[in-house]
Amino acid sequence: MKRIHTVAEMQAQSDAWRGAGLCVGLVPTMGFLHEGHLSLVDHSLEAADRTVVSIFVNPLQFGPKEDFAIYPRDMERDLDLLSRRGVDAVFHPQTVEFYPPDFSTLVEVEELTKGLCGPFRPGHFRGVTTVVTKLFTAVKPHLAVFGQKDYQQAAVIRRLVRDLNLDLRVEVAPTVREADGLAMSSRNILLSAEDRQRAPALYEALTMGQKKIEQGERDASQIIAAMRAHIERTLDASIDYISIAHPDTLEEVAHITGPVVIALAVRLSNVRLIDNIIAAPLSR
Ligand code: PAJ
Repeated sequence: MKRIHTVAEMQAQSDAWRGAGLCVGLVPTMGFLHEGHLSLVDHSLEAADRTVVSIFVNPLQFGPKEDFAIYPRDMERDLDLLSRRGVDAVFHPQTVEFYPPDFSTLVEVEELTKGLCGPFRPGHFRGVTTVVTKLFTAVKPHLAVFGQKDYQQAAVIRRLVRDLNLDLRVEVAPTVREADGLAMSSRNILLSAEDRQRAPALYEALTMGQKKIEQGERDASQIIAAMRAHIERTLDASIDYISIAHPDTLEEVAHITGPVVIALAVRLSNVRLIDNIIAAPLSR
């Protein structure tokens, strides 16, 4: 497995693969890898001839009061996991090259970022779309794989690729969960023992919402209230939002008539967790 640190070297490697007619897949990550990330890696290994995983904790997508400094990192472990999985190259850009002191260009998707996490994390999606554009430019992938776990992020990146006519395909792979239902996340390790034990209440709330929709409940506010009650009963949580939204536009839905995404963001102590599920009324 190659370890690549500079944009020039990454572009040269990708040009060589492309010149040989090989399909290049990219899995962008911030490291501290778990089975969720590795499922995206497996997806790329299946779909492409060469797989690049980028590891970069992107300062631009963290707010001033967010957890950039304590975001978990373990490069040696990540490299070991990726080489055993069969990854061809790890791209680990240096912050000074990615963001020189006079860096001044931002990429912003204006729609899809106004709801859900947008208002709670000002500048976050702009940081994501800027770094992802840079990763695409460096790695020149034919295919990039993202996780449904970050549903809004995946939708925003699809829009970025469409709007800027970027020459690559975006694929979204399902959320991987712990045995108790908690969505895998690099941030789970930051949870206290008690919060970790109770955190499956988030997925329970999502499946409860999904079931209510399948059983015929059409009033989103009723469903959200029941989900909120379940979470507040179980966890000492500060709920940023629980939303029922259109799966493509991400606009809130009040009366449910078709497929929706149920999404939530919750803070347990200082750890912010997100999760989502797709739900649709059963046709009768
Ligand atoms: P990170 O949180 O490291 O996630 C990298 C990729 O793994 C994202 O596409 C995310 O949706 C996916 N992922 C995380 N947990 C998952 C799970 N439990 N199941 C399936 N996929 C999962 O998302 C980012 O990094 C960054 O914003 C990034 C896109 C790399 C830009 O900096």
